[in-house]
Amino acid sequence: MAEAQDTNIIASWPQQQLGDHSISGNRYTSREFADQEFENMWTKVWLLLGHEAELPNPGDWQREDVGPESFLMVRQKDGGVKAFYNVCQHRGNPLVSDEKGHVKRFVCRYHSWAFTPDGELNFAPDADDFPEGNPCGKVRLEEVACETFAGFVWINMDTNCVSLKEYLGPIWEDWSRYDLHTWKRYAAKTTTLPCNWKVVLDNFNESYHVPTVHMAATPATKRNQIIGGVNTNYRETRFDLSDEGHNRMVMEGGYGVGSTDKEGNIIEPLASQLQQWGIDPAEYKGRPEETRIALQKAKRKLGPERGYSHYEKIHDEAFTDAFHYTLFPNFAVSVWADGFHFLRARPHPTDPEQCIFDNWWYASQPHSETAPVSTTVGLVDRDAEVEHEVFNVGEQSMGKTIDEDIAVFTRQQTGFRSRGFKGVYLSNQESRIRRYHKLIDDYIDGKLPAKGKPAT
Ligand code: FES
Ligand SMILES: [Fe+2]
Repeated sequence: MAEAQDTNIIASWPQQQLGDHSISGNRYTSREFADQEFENMWTKVWLLLGHEAELPNPGDWQREDVGPESFLMVRQKDGGVKAFYNVCQHRGNPLVSDEKGHVKRFVCRYHSWAFTPDGELNFAPDADDFPEGNPCGKVRLEEVACETFAGFVWINMDTNCVSLKEYLGPIWEDWSRYDLHTWKRYAAKTTTLPCNWKVVLDNFNESYHVPTVHMAATPATKRNQIIGGVNTNYRETRFDLSDEGHNRMVMEGGYGVGSTDKEGNIIEPLASQLQQWGIDPAEYKGRPEETRIALQKAKRKLGPERGYSHYEKIHDEAFTDAFHYTLFPNFAVSVWADGFHFLRARPHPTDPEQCIFDNWWYASQPHSETAPVSTTVGLVDRDAEVEHEVFNVGEQSMGKTIDEDIAVFTRQQTGFRSRGFKGVYLSNQESRIRRYHKLIDDYIDGKLPAKGKPAT
């Protein structure tokens, strides 16, 4: 049991200096600020861009856009993945416009220049007509740094960047425990939003809004009696900020108030969760708080024999609690023992008051379970193949909780336009927002070299 002992301890991350500079509304509205941010920050950070499962075979490719840039990720013959700017080096035509596909060669639709999956030009019509010489074998697609981790494809426009492992810092070890590369996507919705990308990340960098926005709490509500699946009390929530600029928040599974009826009987959904793991809810009548540890023990004991092979590596707390991460700059994720809630915001190509927002869900693949998978948009069959849905904001639901967040994003963006807004006034539990904005400014001010960790 030595390994189980080790996994019980979650190490804290170091304290960070946050600064106290103003965060004003124009950071969310100004074209000039967006340009500075793109030139100095977006071009120097690792970005989670694709998923390896989209690229099973050599020649498979996936396109993803970030602000004004578009990238191609391409599976290579040797099993690796390379990434390129999606632009033909003849006269700048984008090479592809679809989301994904398979090629022997990328053939530009303007004059038929053809590039192999490893980026080399190997055909150009009238190749003998170029005064600088035949471009074939000479001209290549422009490559960006590309690595894979946790089943995802990550890119960095700065070819002089640190390794992805170094950039991710403690995230690498935390996430390695879950075998995320084996998990499968069960929900994938992407929409445009009428707000700056930072409105989205700010929101996922705090849980202060959760009682108000998601639990209909009012000034009269007793905050310690809020009904919900997680404990939102900031005093009992753990916050960590990493040297590398990423954040972690751990909220306990909220098996207290709201988990019982007036007589103290455990009610749904907790009752079913307990039964699923061989625990009789009646035994915990009147003491729902104790179910958290009981569930952890049951999952620790029964998980491996039920095919949850990663359970041997994850912490006890991970069986019940919400581990919420934000990875600088634009990726927020809640990691559950069997669910990976993927939330990402990318800048709009030209408009700082819009962004592209992804809400996806990945689930573990236990060997012996056939039960449906619970996602942010409802239950789905474990065998289901889920299509990526792309739509304009409001055309479809993104799931109840995220729809509630989106309604706020849209209104907040209009507030940032007001000359009456004098800048944020942040609580300690919103420190992750301050840290994020400090990092953005440090990048813009050139304090963050391409190599090395952010200044603290
Ligand atoms: S721009 Fe691509 S072949 Fe001319
Ligand atoms: Fe929220």
